[in-house]
Amino acid sequence: MNVLITGCSRGIGYALAKEFVSRVRNIKLILISRSEVRLMQLKEECIQISKEAEILPLAFDLNDLSKGGFPELLENVPVDIVINNAGVLIKRNFQELNEKEMIQMIKTNLILPAILIQKIASVKRDTKPCHIVNIGSMAGFQGSVKFPGMSIYGASKAGLASLTESLAVEFKEKNIYVNCLAIGAVQTDMLEEAFPGYKAPVSAEQMASFIAEFAINGHQFFNGKVLPVAISTP
Ligand SMILES: NC(=O)c1ccc[n+]([C@@H]2O[C@H](COP(=O)([O-])OP(=O)(O)OC[C@H]3O[C@@H](n4cnc5c(N)ncnc54)[C@H](OP(=O)(O)O)[C@@H]3O)[C@@H](O)[C@H]2O)c1
Repeated sequence: MNVLITGCSRGIGYALAKEFVSRVRNIKLILISRSEVRLMQLKEECIQISKEAEILPLAFDLNDLSKGGFPELLENVPVDIVINNAGVLIKRNFQELNEKEMIQMIKTNLILPAILIQKIASVKRDTKPCHIVNIGSMAGFQGSVKFPGMSIYGASKAGLASLTESLAVEFKEKNIYVNCLAIGAVQTDMLEEAFPGYKAPVSAEQMASFIAEFAINGHQFFNGKVLPVAISTP
């Protein structure tokens, strides 16, 4: 099984890589984030879990997706699972957010996952199913409780949720399944930076376990769905 995960240098993505290696035999993992040092450390930890795992760390800024190089890798390694996990949260009240910060969040959380999906869909040749799991947020889930300072972040994740619904329809004939997990608070650096001192009910490892299980089997039951995954957020 070939799996691509973005945002692996820390938090949920880091835990997710190790979770896949423990669960799946003969796995080939493409791991993306900008920090090469952290990716190499993650590779070491994955190999300690399973010597058979093939780990392909790719120190890459997703903003450079249009610069080439990356699609060739995808042609050689057709992916069965893609986890769009990389994300950015700048927690600041709406009136204080500047345009650059707004664009950074919308680009990282919505546009770059969209461009990555385009590239994956354009090189897909085989008939095997591909499950794309977009990591959304309860901040962008309609009707959930909202918190100050999360407006544009929430809007970017709501966009990702909407994109999910549309792509599932467009990709029906391509055997590509697209779902979005709107997750609640998870104990990571991102959460600690945004809500210092708050203790989330779920660890990165627990959430990674849920996401991996869903990514492996969820496409048999769901397509184009935005699923809330939270016990803390009403
Ligand atoms: N933690 C929570 O409570 C929570 C709740 C709801 C949703 N989420 C979502 O869950 C996902 C993971 O969250 P987390 O808490 O694990 O976040 P995190 O600890 O901040 O990790 C984010 C990851 O994204 C990578 N990344 C960011 N921009 C990138 C870029 N341009 N190119 C490549 N990689 C990039 C970072 O790696 P580098 O800096 O090395 O590039 C890092 O590995 C995010 O999408 C987040 O919005 C989290």
